[in-house]
Amino acid sequence: MLISGTPTRTIWRSDEPSENAVMIIDQTRLPHEFVLHRLTTLDDAAEAISVMRVRGAPLIGATAAYGMALAAMKAADDTALLAAGEQLIATRPTAVNLRWAVQRVLAQLLPLPVAQRVQTAWAEAAAICEEDVAQNRAIGQHGLALLQAIAGQKSGRLNILTHCNAGWLATVDWGTALAPIFAAAAAGLDVHVWVDETRPRNQGASLTAWELQQAGIAHHVIADNAGGHLMQHGEVDVCIVGTDRTAANGDVCNKIGTYLKALAAFDNGVPFYVAAPGPSIDFALPDGGQIPIEERDAAEVACIQGRDAAGRVVLVQLTPEGSPAANPAFDVTPARLVTGLITERGVCAANPAALAALFPERGAA
Ligand code: MRU
Repeated sequence: MLISGTPTRTIWRSDEPSENAVMIIDQTRLPHEFVLHRLTTLDDAAEAISVMRVRGAPLIGATAAYGMALAAMKAADDTALLAAGEQLIATRPTAVNLRWAVQRVLAQLLPLPVAQRVQTAWAEAAAICEEDVAQNRAIGQHGLALLQAIAGQKSGRLNILTHCNAGWLATVDWGTALAPIFAAAAAGLDVHVWVDETRPRNQGASLTAWELQQAGIAHHVIADNAGGHLMQHGEVDVCIVGTDRTAANGDVCNKIGTYLKALAAFDNGVPFYVAAPGPSIDFALPDGGQIPIEERDAAEVACIQGRDAAGRVVLVQLTPEGSPAANPAFDVTPARLVTGLITERGVCAANPAALAALFPERGAA
């Protein structure tokens, strides 16, 4: 993505030869401040994932892979390396990319002598990042064809609703749900995006809106509860969201509130697509019922971060002192509500046969 005209990714190995460090964009500071953050240890990587300096399923996976490279520099034996993997996996339970990336790096490292592990770990983390970029670029092209078809059936601008942030910031580059939108804008389609604010952490209002603004794409941030009303009034032509984990039967786990949008879309005959790269699909889970749903700190619901009139970024409390809050961070949208999955290998129906046909080598684990 271009940030103020400069091609930028969300994560990269520092090119300072004397140090083994990873650079990330600190997403807790956006949209008000663009700040880079340096990771030099396994603990740094784990902290960045758990406090959500990096977030979004594919980027969590990429960060965990680099976290394993940082861990490999210190790990004297298999036990230390396996413990590092466990530490990273424990940071956030829902996105399957995290476990996938850790296991992939471990599978490369464990057969090697300790002395050869560091270089291999850095190479594997870099490969995961490159593959992520390629997958998302392909999702963009497959999604573009869908958007062109939907736009061809109507006049005027194409209105797309998205939830949370499944854009460039949620991946290494391009994004998943936003990749087709970036591709459509580049292809000259007249697109406009309804951006769900996505309480409690407001990834839509803070991150998706910022990305779309950087790309010069027309959008409005809407309250989370506005989507159903807009769909009833013909103001949404298609919904596209991302996924943290899609089960083998096509059930889709994504940011809390996705399910309600899918229900509203179904009731109003609005197509509901999910952009799902291969690493976000968990073929070991027959359905979404067993996906662990992350329960985050209640303070994220009770408080909200923003910029005050003096320009300072502050946290303010919304709820009465002492009112308890609950914070389930994800929900599962049943496959029957999903019009299709946009993968790097093409668009398929959200059902076990269609997914297995696109990813025959993954099979049921
Ligand atoms: O809690 P977050 O911000 O990590 O949640 C992100 C999402 O729910 C995204 O939609 C999902 O990870 C897909 S990102 C391409």
